[in-house]
Amino acid sequence: MTLRPLTHADTRRLAEFLGALSPESRRFSTFGGYDLATARELCDAIARYDKLRLVLEDVPSGRVVGLLEFSLALTPADIARYQDAGLRLTETTDCRFGPTLADDYQGRGIGTLAFPLVTEVARLLGRPRIILWGGVRADNPRAIRYYEKNGFRPVGFFTEPDGSLSLDMMLDLRPAPGRTGLSTRRGHP
Ligand SMILES: CC(C)(COP(=O)(O)OP(=O)(O)OC[C@H]1O[C@@H](n2cnc3c(N)ncnc32)[C@H](O)[C@@H]1OP(=O)(O)O)[C@@H](O)C(=O)NCCC(=O)NCCS
Repeated sequence: MTLRPLTHADTRRLAEFLGALSPESRRFSTFGGYDLATARELCDAIARYDKLRLVLEDVPSGRVVGLLEFSLALTPADIARYQDAGLRLTETTDCRFGPTLADDYQGRGIGTLAFPLVTEVARLLGRPRIILWGGVRADNPRAIRYYEKNGFRPVGFFTEPDGSLSLDMMLDLRPAPGRTGLSTRRGHP
């Protein structure tokens, strides 16, 4: 599999990926639609807005089996929720992240396999903290476990417009206070 930026040439394959998502995946990862028009919108947004979208492509079939989305913008609602939890979000430190894998690729460790590249992208974007784009639904235990095992910590719960519960989570890639981040592997004391 390869992880690479979404391109305009992906429109049809992205539409197939969206169209094949199960009702459950659509509830957990909400897109504006799941058809060619939505795929076109996502591709039209390439390099135009504050979003970066990466696709996981199965080689050699060329099938799109995952969409990993980053947003460099924060919403007033995000800022207010995190502030309530004592965390100040800023567009110089934080980015939003949302992953979606094809149903037959979920629960096989693939999201975790790709995760070091996710953190690398956040670092390259100059955003050392990653929050969940839209949070994670409380009734999505696989995603919650996925985030936890990749270092995210829960920040707080909030209520969705439909009355259901979601969870905010954050990953801070900066070295913990008191640690220098210097490696001693080369024999330095
Ligand atoms: C969320 C998602 C990106 C995670 O990627 P993934 O490749 O499936 O995740 P992984 O297989 O690396 O890890 C999943 C973990 O959850 C565990 N898990 C699976 N089902 C679970 C369940 N019902 N309850 C608790 N844990 C569960 C797995 O055992 C694994 O943990 P482990 O390695 O400790 O055993 C992917 O499942 C997905 O796209 N889901 C649908 C869309 C979605 O929910 N997106 C997130 C929106 S916030």
